[in-house]
Amino acid sequence: MRVGVIYGNGIGPEITEATLKVLEATGLPFEWVPVMIGDEAYDRFGHPLPQDAVELLKELKYAIKGPFIVNKMKGRLSCVHKDGSEAIYPSLNNAIRRELNLFVCPRPIRGVPGISGAYEDFDVVVMREITEDVYAAIEHSIGNDAAECVKLTTRKAATRLAEFSFEYARAHGRKKVTCVHKANAISITDGLFLTCFREVAERYPDIESDDVMVDAAAYYLVKDPKRFDIINTSNQYGDILSDLCAGLVGSLGLAPGGNIGTEVAVFEASHGAAPDIAGKGIANPVALILSGAFMLRHMGFVREAQIVEESTRSVLSAGKDLTPDLGGSGTCMGLAGMIARKVKETL
Ligand code: NAI
Repeated sequence: MRVGVIYGNGIGPEITEATLKVLEATGLPFEWVPVMIGDEAYDRFGHPLPQDAVELLKELKYAIKGPFIVNKMKGRLSCVHKDGSEAIYPSLNNAIRRELNLFVCPRPIRGVPGISGAYEDFDVVVMREITEDVYAAIEHSIGNDAAECVKLTTRKAATRLAEFSFEYARAHGRKKVTCVHKANAISITDGLFLTCFREVAERYPDIESDDVMVDAAAYYLVKDPKRFDIINTSNQYGDILSDLCAGLVGSLGLAPGGNIGTEVAVFEASHGAAPDIAGKGIANPVALILSGAFMLRHMGFVREAQIVEESTRSVLSAGKDLTPDLGGSGTCMGLAGMIARKVKETL
């Protein structure tokens, strides 16, 4: 069971180490294969995402990824392929997704008893499209005083996303899919996104569907989150709403995710590299641990995935060794150690 490991930077290396420890506690015979991406790759090969790393990830098919810091206004990245073609991406994180043809990022966010207060029962999957929208890197300056960015939406990507959301609903016993958009103000682009969603919804009469404008969705998530089950949405809205969901349940450190394609899947937390707490050993590893459980489920190890999820929730609810973002004074490895012990006990 060879699995790629991209350590990232900021809090990436510490939460990745913590996650591998918990996944190893399942007893599954993992062989971790470090994939050199980021500063180290830049120093060695002159590019943060060498094509050999892309090829290795394609061969491995599964990877755990820590976050990467992307400097403001300097993120754009050009990738030249072995056939000489070139692609421009808005950031390294986006480039990894796009070079591997990953098209959807499910972020299953759940409240935790004893931790999430009024949002203990929160249970929403944000299904984020990750190939286009305003993150397609189609933007430019117009002289010094203006700039424009294209919000790309294609029938192919919107339909593929909606199909994934409904199939996910069926496979995971979810009852409803809500399309989140802004088709009143962005009527052609978000209009196409919504039209594709509705066309797909007709093919899934067993799953309830509706749609909500993104501003109202933000309001309902706070006021009445039970009206949502799966949120099917475009790249930027999904990026923002998943952080909102994380905040409601108590921390960005509780929000897992996966980037899924037809052949490769890379699992990473919803949050970023948290440079403000990096290197202090106090980052919450739970979002990446739950992303690891998501990977196990995706690989077919459903029992092990459940054990990691339930052990994590039970350790969190017990309230010991919590990291500072959850109000405790515990450490990243301390919390991961408790979860790993619970996984072993349960097994
Ligand atoms: P962030 O998600 O890194 O941090 C926002 C806040 O949440 C900070 O106060 C941070 O300390 C806290 N936080 C995040 N994760 C945490 C964890 N596991 N445990 C405890 N606290 C946690 O967002 P920010 O500050 O906007 O971005 C920092 C860097 O990360 C930027 O360079 C950004 O581009 C990058 N980033 C990378 C992503 C990726 O690799 N997929 C995703 C989002 C941001």
